[in-house]
Amino acid sequence: TGSHGTGPFIAAIDQGTTSSRCIVFDRDGRIVSVDQKEHEQIFPKPGWVEHDATEIWANVQQVVAGAIEKAGITAADVKAIGITNQRETTLLWDKNTGEPVHNAIVWQDTRTDGLCKELGRNVGQDRFRRETGLPLASYFSGPKVRWLLDNVEGLRERAEAGDILFGTMDSWVIWNLTGGTDGGVHVTDVTNASRTMLMNLRSLAWDERIAESMEIPVAVLPEIRSSAEVYGTAKGGALDGVPVASALGDQQAALFGQTCFSEGEAKSTYGTGTFMLMNTGDEPVNSYNGLLTTVGYRIGDEKPVYALEGSIAVTGSLVQWMRDQMGLIKSAAEIETLASSVEDNGGAYFVPAFSGLFAPYWRSDARGVIAGLTRYVTKAHIARAVLEATAWQTREITDAMTKDSGVELTALKVDGGMTSNNLLMQTLSDFLDAPVVRPMVAETTCLGAAYAAGLAVGFWPDTDALRANWRRAAEWTPRMDADTRDREYKSWLKAVERTMGWIE
Ligand code: G3P
Repeated sequence: TGSHGTGPFIAAIDQGTTSSRCIVFDRDGRIVSVDQKEHEQIFPKPGWVEHDATEIWANVQQVVAGAIEKAGITAADVKAIGITNQRETTLLWDKNTGEPVHNAIVWQDTRTDGLCKELGRNVGQDRFRRETGLPLASYFSGPKVRWLLDNVEGLRERAEAGDILFGTMDSWVIWNLTGGTDGGVHVTDVTNASRTMLMNLRSLAWDERIAESMEIPVAVLPEIRSSAEVYGTAKGGALDGVPVASALGDQQAALFGQTCFSEGEAKSTYGTGTFMLMNTGDEPVNSYNGLLTTVGYRIGDEKPVYALEGSIAVTGSLVQWMRDQMGLIKSAAEIETLASSVEDNGGAYFVPAFSGLFAPYWRSDARGVIAGLTRYVTKAHIARAVLEATAWQTREITDAMTKDSGVELTALKVDGGMTSNNLLMQTLSDFLDAPVVRPMVAETTCLGAAYAAGLAVGFWPDTDALRANWRRAAEWTPRMDADTRDREYKSWLKAVERTMGWIE
């Protein structure tokens, strides 16, 4: 750690879909240490995905201790803790015992598909879009809360009696970190709250009318706070006594970490899913092209900043699926080697609608397809189609962004694990017909949470100081001719058509 000076430091906790990590940053936004631990993915039925929140909290404590130890520092060297998290994943727990009442229902889970159809019955999937910025889809937390209340025996009574707390993973981590049953604070931030379908985007308060129509007692809901302020102090553990000073959903944190602080700036993060967010300034912009309107961030009592979002459910998790379920590759990195061994996709297209289709379609009834198969196709072509799926899905979203915002894409800032895949980044630039740029610190999610926490405690003076840390590490420029691109895009869109309406 010598090259990073003697501190002080900021610690960021990222409670993600597949793992939890803690990263310690110095004042230049450089990584001092990292610790990470994966947790179990539980698939009880087709379309269902759960996490054990007790395992997650144990892992969070472990990686915090691990990162502090690796950095060779103590809690006294850490000025603040920032939290970022997989969004929408829904947990209810008993505030008297601290025990979850059920596994967390993960954002990818489609069990509330029927419930969402029912909620939209009279007016359709845009029933709550004006208030919440979101279409009715199984992705969001509200319907998941309702499912738990309806399906866990005796839960509704306990919730109405005030014994049950709801939270996304930010709330769960903060509540436990600040003492749990011994005085833990029950809060969430505006970005996470904007994914529940229960918050009004303009007032930034819970919408009681919507909560009532989903039959969710407001007593379970956390207090909504800004993304950068001190919520409380860590009690016990490796960071005992350190202020907990930020919370942002992971995609909003990446927007922050990429320093997209001006209207029109956008980033796309390639993780288990892929999420592109564009800063739209201090007014929420309605989407007419299948994007979400969401809160980008809010620093203390400043005006909130809004974003348009294109969400893709399955990108990195398709590579994982190829590895773990299909056994076609041994490591995620091997997908690139395999795909590079052929010139093209051999006519095959893979639409991974495993959780239905998200943006711009919002079809929970879609399921995955591989189209265009002939005997010519090898596993290398499929590997190529896997990577192309991520790039085409991004293209569909940038098209929608252009239509909604009227701004032509000049370059795309990317980050996340999949950006180490060169073939994917080149393909992305080819399909978008625009340059793709990656910053030096690719861990923008943790960086964003650290930045927000650092701003809250005065570790960094303002957002200009953060911008000065952004440095370009790599850039890809388009090489594909327009005819090939257009022809391939048409085939992709035809394959997408084939996924819809699979579930009645
Ligand atoms: O909306 C879901 C998103 O927040 C999950 O992100 O990086 O954990 O897959 P990630």
